[in-house]
Amino acid sequence: MVVPRAVAGPRCGGGGGRLRLFFLLLSPTAAPRSLAPRRRGLVRREICIQQERNKSFHLQSKMPTCDFLPNKYESYPYEQMVKIRKENISPSLYTSYKKPLLIHQGYMQWLFDFEGRRYLDLFGGIVTISVGHCHPKVTAAAQKQLGRLWHTSNLFMHPGIQEYAEKLASLFPDPLKVIYLTNSGTEANDLAIFMARLFTRNFDIISLRGCYHGGSPYTLGVTSLSHYKHVIANGLGCQTTMLPDVFRGPWGGSHCRDSPVQTIRKCTCSPGSCHAKDQYIEQLKDTFRTCVPKAIAGFIAEPIQGVNGVVQYPKGFLKEAFQLVHEKGGVCIVDEVQTGFGRIGSHFWGFEGHDVVPDIVTLAKGIGNGFPMAAVVTRAEIASALAENTHFNTYGGNAMACAVGSAVLDAIAEDGLQKNCEDVGTHMLLEFAKLRDKFEIVGDVRGKGLMIGIEMVENKETRQPLPREEVAQIVEDCKDMGVIIGQGGLYLQTLRIKPPMCITKEDADFAVDVLHAALTRHMERKTAAN
Ligand SMILES: Cc1ncc(COP(=O)(O)O)c(C=O)c1O
Repeated sequence: MVVPRAVAGPRCGGGGGRLRLFFLLLSPTAAPRSLAPRRRGLVRREICIQQERNKSFHLQSKMPTCDFLPNKYESYPYEQMVKIRKENISPSLYTSYKKPLLIHQGYMQWLFDFEGRRYLDLFGGIVTISVGHCHPKVTAAAQKQLGRLWHTSNLFMHPGIQEYAEKLASLFPDPLKVIYLTNSGTEANDLAIFMARLFTRNFDIISLRGCYHGGSPYTLGVTSLSHYKHVIANGLGCQTTMLPDVFRGPWGGSHCRDSPVQTIRKCTCSPGSCHAKDQYIEQLKDTFRTCVPKAIAGFIAEPIQGVNGVVQYPKGFLKEAFQLVHEKGGVCIVDEVQTGFGRIGSHFWGFEGHDVVPDIVTLAKGIGNGFPMAAVVTRAEIASALAENTHFNTYGGNAMACAVGSAVLDAIAEDGLQKNCEDVGTHMLLEFAKLRDKFEIVGDVRGKGLMIGIEMVENKETRQPLPREEVAQIVEDCKDMGVIIGQGGLYLQTLRIKPPMCITKEDADFAVDVLHAALTRHMERKTAAN
């Protein structure tokens, strides 16, 4: 077991005017005067790693500095970890990279592997690290709560759940004021579907193709990515409709989406009208005509599709879809598991960017900055449908989760993270767009704030996806240069960039440079192979 022993140092990187943190967790064995030689050793080692990375990839820029000192790695050797992983952990859980990373520690936007190598984390544990790895304020709140109360049954009150529910509810527009806390996004979506069915007394739920809403029997029914489906029956009462994907779908043009970067496709739509949106709405109407009864239970969508590679719908699509769903007696569920908590920059919630107020909202991932917690937010009359009978959840809303969730909300506000998402995200999107203009294999750059997708193609004319192995190699090269990015999409053709919301412009510039070097390396490989 790894025993926390050493020190969390000052905040990494050029955090600008933002909070400068000096958070010391000293044990008796780690006296500050013992740090200097060790720090010197680490810095020397890091310079060597940096030089090695730069030499092998012709990388121009240096990784931004970080004066955080990771603990010494004290667990099993790497090979033993691989063996245990193989023998004792479910084979359904796969690892990224040819040689899986063994991550030992995290601090804000940085991860450290077992050998002390530092990585800029642009994937945030799959969009889960919102305010930063081990954010000092959140860690302190968790530590304080650890010594007070971990859990008590929902049959009693504890202060945290009321305080947190009030704080979270204040961030939602009326009438979304009732909260049910759960432990995961899957569980939250499961419950949302259950509530929609109970409330409407209807059964059918419609989702968008390409979506991911979870892996339980209910949520697998609405999830629409074949590599998450299994051969057993699922999805009774679940229907999908065409994904309004303005880059890969049949319709899309030059000003469809709400992003600083538009597609490379051209259209002749006049401002305020969108042919693509109208066509995709027609598809939804067709689903109503052909797949469901007269009345439905609801519709579920992410404001921007996450797992499917940051797919944005044409402006106005969700608003019109919601109207149609309401006409069918259904409720509209918005899955904010990836998009919530300020990540999209312009708004705190993704649905606000679509000018809609959903009937039910689900939250997870960033809500707890890595702590397992999630929530369903709805209006009183829908919530009361669940009160017809008992619905019980042992851990949902436990004292630890509420303390963490509350500190996460404070950190987002105090560190100005929504604004940081807007500023750094927009900067990054525009820089990535320059790579799209330079490299034929970069087909699309899209997103909002720090929710960014870069879709890789064979070439811009056909828009055929770049084979997943080639995309994986680019992702691997980025990792070898010290930047972790995700891979997603139906064909695993899209780079997913959703870092902790505290990254700086300097980090962003480094990441763009690293991707530039990885793309250059890819083109060199292609030329050499031909
Ligand atoms: C949009 C979305 N909804 C729901 C889920 C499921 O969340 P969890 O893995 O916490 O069950 C995920 C997970 O990736 C997700 O991305």
